[in-house]
Amino acid sequence: MVSTAIFAALAVAASAHPVLESRQGQTLEDYIARQFNISLEGALQNIGGANNNIVEAAGEGFVVASPSTTNPDYFFTWTRDSALTELMVTDELIFGTESVGNNSLQVIVEQYTGAQAQLQTVTNPSGALWPAGQGLGEPKFYSNGTRYNGAWGRPQNDGPALRAATFMEISEAIFQRNPNAPVIVSNVYWPLIYNDLLYVAQYWNTTSYDLWEEVNGNSVFTTVAQHRALVEGAIWAERLNKTCEPCVQQAPQIACFLANNFWNETGGYLLANINANQVERSQINADPILGAMHAFDINASCDAGALQPCNSRILATHKVWVDSFRDLYPINHNATAPAAVLTGRYPEDSYYGGNPWYITTLAAAEVLYDAAAQFSKQGAITIDETSLAFWQDIYPNATADFTYGEDADVQNLVSAMTDYADRFVSLVQQYTPANGTLNEQINKTSGEPLSAIALTWSYAAFVTAIDRRNSQFPPSWGANSTLANNIPDTCKFSSYNATTQYTPALAAGAPNVTKDCESEVIFQLLWVTGPGENTYIVGNTSFLGNTLDDTDKVIEVMRTQNYTTPEPKWFTPAWVPAGVPIEYKYVLLNSTDNSYTFENVTRYAYPAACGNNTVVSTLDTGSFPGRSYDGPQ
Ligand code: NOJ
Ligand code: NOJ
Repeated sequence: MVSTAIFAALAVAASAHPVLESRQGQTLEDYIARQFNISLEGALQNIGGANNNIVEAAGEGFVVASPSTTNPDYFFTWTRDSALTELMVTDELIFGTESVGNNSLQVIVEQYTGAQAQLQTVTNPSGALWPAGQGLGEPKFYSNGTRYNGAWGRPQNDGPALRAATFMEISEAIFQRNPNAPVIVSNVYWPLIYNDLLYVAQYWNTTSYDLWEEVNGNSVFTTVAQHRALVEGAIWAERLNKTCEPCVQQAPQIACFLANNFWNETGGYLLANINANQVERSQINADPILGAMHAFDINASCDAGALQPCNSRILATHKVWVDSFRDLYPINHNATAPAAVLTGRYPEDSYYGGNPWYITTLAAAEVLYDAAAQFSKQGAITIDETSLAFWQDIYPNATADFTYGEDADVQNLVSAMTDYADRFVSLVQQYTPANGTLNEQINKTSGEPLSAIALTWSYAAFVTAIDRRNSQFPPSWGANSTLANNIPDTCKFSSYNATTQYTPALAAGAPNVTKDCESEVIFQLLWVTGPGENTYIVGNTSFLGNTLDDTDKVIEVMRTQNYTTPEPKWFTPAWVPAGVPIEYKYVLLNSTDNSYTFENVTRYAYPAACGNNTVVSTLDTGSFPGRSYDGPQ
């Protein structure tokens, strides 16, 4: 059903964009003018709603990552992709674009608001909204807003932080247009924003999966998004005559963590992840570049609390990261600076064989447009030992430990930077197919588009990069505020205990999910799995599928982060009704032949009273028919 609709719709889309004559011979300016519209429209066409053909199966307001349903199946809604896309749509609304095609941008962001209000309450494999907010960390859902039960890298803690920033920018757009804004924002938006802020303040000190969904650790991108969310949250609270205690309390600690942990002095670049499970990687990555783009505030100084694009560490990271692809991808022919090259997520990437991406190559440009704008605004550029190598690539006479303050010098450096940024966009032009469709990746040898077709995020990345090129900047979020720049001398990996404070955002359209009295049980299973096997847990509560024997209801896959050879331990944290015995058992699912093996015993847990600090742990050794436990005891 889904796929017929998609194919019919793609035909419509193709005829809506007459095939470009030839991109060769087209000037960069002509390409940009045309591709900007194609991209904005392309992103909007991937959002579920009344006027939509391409993603007809998606619920209203849900942003689909790509219409592709196989190889790869991206017909899902990711919290990250959605928030970044709607942030772009909100930018456009603020810059004055009212509608695109049949889509009024205001209606689009309103529908997104309703969809997210609903999504915040959906219990999922990461947990529930009530009482401890863990469900907010779930990275992706079906495009109709129902939970996705498959194994995945979860939670991903950038999601709530990015979504909070998007809602705050939507709030800004409302303030600019509607005299009733303080009431609307307080009643409709603040409860939504506050749930996400609570989550950030409670969980920023735990590890989670990174934006590429592979590494469990602390990522720069996630941390920057968390810092921005809490600082901006504190500012918004004041604007609405409220307070945000979790924001004020935790933001300085996040700033401290960010400032002191990610810089690799020897390599001269920011490490993408620390406390991570992928220790063999260089940690050279687009992650910090995308982080700086999210932290970008045109009014910020280069060493403001969060990582600004004009910060020397970002420029140094840009160079190391771009250089890592020069001879890695055959299509780059080892072109040396100041030539631009196609860039990927990180050099060790092996997804689809490891290739250049549109979003990262556009990010290489966007972050430089941002930095150039900040330098122009400041009227001065300080080059230090950290940024020297970056500058020398594009301005051979650059000298370290020197502040360029003469107008002509600043102009020269800024144009060298902008020209370099333009060369990344020119490469994107060179590898954009004639009809303007932007996939996820570009084949590293042939230059053909690869992986997910019409990726929403690729389109959004094009629009934001070109907006910055055209000096269109999003509203300041507070990067220069006192709170953003409050960095304690001693860092603490602290947390705000928000358990029981999460509330469905009813005025924004959330269903009134009941706040049952629940407590947390960590189910732990010792079992050595065979090839293709994963462990699941079922039980007589809704979180565990309400079953002890039905294969259709096996939904809760167990986590492997604590699995080691000496202790082959799977686990699942679950919120279950308190004060009553819970029945449960474990299930083996073999993905090679899709066979289920249920345990031959029923187990019981007795969670204590509800509320905080009632975590109960079990430690069970698997008891599967015909198998015996063959791990260490
Ligand atoms: C591996 C990729 O590297 C990751 O980014 C992607 O999201 C997942 N697979 C799922 O497709
Ligand atoms: C894979 C990317 O790595 C991830 O960041 C993104 O959320 C999904 N694809 C969906 O676009």
